[in-house]
Amino acid sequence: MSVELTDLGTAGLELSVSGAVATVTLMRRERRNAMTPSMWHGLAQIPGKLPGEVRVVVVTGDGPSFCAGIDLRMFTPEGVPGEDRGLSAADPGFDAQVAGYQAGFRWLRDPSIVSIAAVRGHAIGAGFQLALACDLRVLAEDAELCMKEPALGLVPDLTGTKPLVDIVGLPRAIELCLTARTVDAQEAGRLGLAERVVPNGELEKTVKELTAQLLRTDVDAARATKALLTRAHERTLDEQAAAERAAQAKLLQARQANQQVQAT
Ligand code: CAA
Repeated sequence: MSVELTDLGTAGLELSVSGAVATVTLMRRERRNAMTPSMWHGLAQIPGKLPGEVRVVVVTGDGPSFCAGIDLRMFTPEGVPGEDRGLSAADPGFDAQVAGYQAGFRWLRDPSIVSIAAVRGHAIGAGFQLALACDLRVLAEDAELCMKEPALGLVPDLTGTKPLVDIVGLPRAIELCLTARTVDAQEAGRLGLAERVVPNGELEKTVKELTAQLLRTDVDAARATKALLTRAHERTLDEQAAAERAAQAKLLQARQANQQVQAT
């Protein structure tokens, strides 16, 4: 069954859920899916709308670009019609405001789901950070990634810096951010920024195949394994080995309890 949740529409988002798969689409193609605070708040609402059986979340953009970053009109005196201009950096509420924007990106790491960014065309600034917020990235050959913020006198502050460093390492992350250069899909593949790079016409098919592969694994094992992997880098080997034992015990106990309930 496919459920369309249209109340996100005013934020420029579309969410469709079909069984275990949810697809989030940025829907401002006339602006190359440029993002606004409303869109970030809309993204943050999505986990609260997802049925518990959803295991894979695909994030994509309508039209030729994944996302051209922040709507640059936010920086003009006119602003974006209907958008609050937000607090100034000197305001004590500024930190909480940006944390609210970041919430739109952070849920994509939740262990209960695997998130996949399906990227065609540009992923610039906030758009690149959205792709980085996902667990996996599938790029069409025409994809172009760019961390534009430093060139605009900003830091990337939508949770992108950590996954970028985790994936490409510190020297390359410094080089990419401080030159604000564009990385094409082939280079992105070599740098580990994409799990798959495919011809432009094969993006959807590839994402569907990857989704099907992900859904073939046991749901509880998949969730517990993602939770383990996600925290591996912050633990010592001893701590991680202990976490593996604890996770295995919890998984097997839960399964046993389930089997007993079914047998009665
Ligand atoms: N904000 C607002 N409008 C945008 C936009 C953006 N970020 N990106 C594209 N658009 C609009 C264009 O103004 C244009 O509108 P009109 O048709 O009304 O003229 C329309 O989308 C199509 O864009 P182009 O004609 O420029 O399309 P293109 O294919 O030639 O180029 C592009 C595409 C390379 C994405 C180019 O539009 C571009 O460079 N956009 C700006 C990218 C950018 O600098 N984004 C900010 C990143 S930093 C960031 O995101 C900071 C943060 O998080 C706080």
